[in-house]
Amino acid sequence: MKACILSGKPVAEQIKNEVKEEIRKLDFRPVLAVIRVGDDPASAIYVKNKIKAAEEVGIVSEHYHFAEEISQEELIKEIDKLNENPEIDAILVQLPLPRHIEEKEIFRRIDYRKDVDGFHPINAGKLFQGRSSLAPCTPAGVIELLKRNGIQIKQKHAVVVGRSNIVGKPMAILLLREDATITICHSQTKNLFEITRQADILVVAVGKAGFIRSEGIKEDAVVVDVGINQIKDEKKLGEFFDGEELEKRIEIFERRGTVVVGDVNPKEAMQKASFLTPVPGGVGLLTVAMLMKNTLKAAIERRANL
Ligand code: GUN
Repeated sequence: MKACILSGKPVAEQIKNEVKEEIRKLDFRPVLAVIRVGDDPASAIYVKNKIKAAEEVGIVSEHYHFAEEISQEELIKEIDKLNENPEIDAILVQLPLPRHIEEKEIFRRIDYRKDVDGFHPINAGKLFQGRSSLAPCTPAGVIELLKRNGIQIKQKHAVVVGRSNIVGKPMAILLLREDATITICHSQTKNLFEITRQADILVVAVGKAGFIRSEGIKEDAVVVDVGINQIKDEKKLGEFFDGEELEKRIEIFERRGTVVVGDVNPKEAMQKASFLTPVPGGVGLLTVAMLMKNTLKAAIERRANL
């Protein structure tokens, strides 16, 4: 084993404590509305984690759970109500949404000042232009994780694999803002691993279990794994883990029938990278912490302009 594990927990705790301290000084408590549609089990867990974190830091959360069958028009009406409600500081619509609902339409409808996910085109545009905005939580969390672990971003070659609006694109922009030289790779990139092998900082968000293996990693790279994938075949676990970690994962599999892994093969990455974020326990914790930070920011800024 060579790489240091870049755990998300201490940084996430630090950020949540800072938010909690700030909220303690306010004469109001920020209010976050969390919307969940349908019964996706992973979404239910994510929403539960967000509500728990809100409680920890002193944010009031309101949970709205709608049936899978809710129409786009009905959902938009619900969002309009939250937009107009002066008590609500922040609105989060958990993804994925059912197929009959257009995500873009939903995110466009949320008041951009309450858009703590940073998905509204106004927030995306502000981020693009380097203006103060609500930045998407996962990539913003990756920056915090790197900075607070003393990892230099400036002048490094950062390669982002994945070009989603939620992670890949904003991640590249945020790394650029920190003076990295950036490359974005995606499903149409030729010789992708030749490019990822040039990365000082490699951020992977493609949703493919163990997609990045040894050949795609430069010696001593900092590897950030944003993927969350389920392994449902116990025989595969040996490809991802060895030693004690394998034993731990087999035990988890026997209890739950599934094991969560990232987009990077940890067994191989550990032999090459200088730092590697674990899955779970890495970037995911930062996403939740940054949601708290964005909720506080949205609350302060909107209320200052009421
Ligand atoms: N689903 C997966 N990631 C995210 C996220 O960052 N925000 C929301 N709202 N849903 C998600």
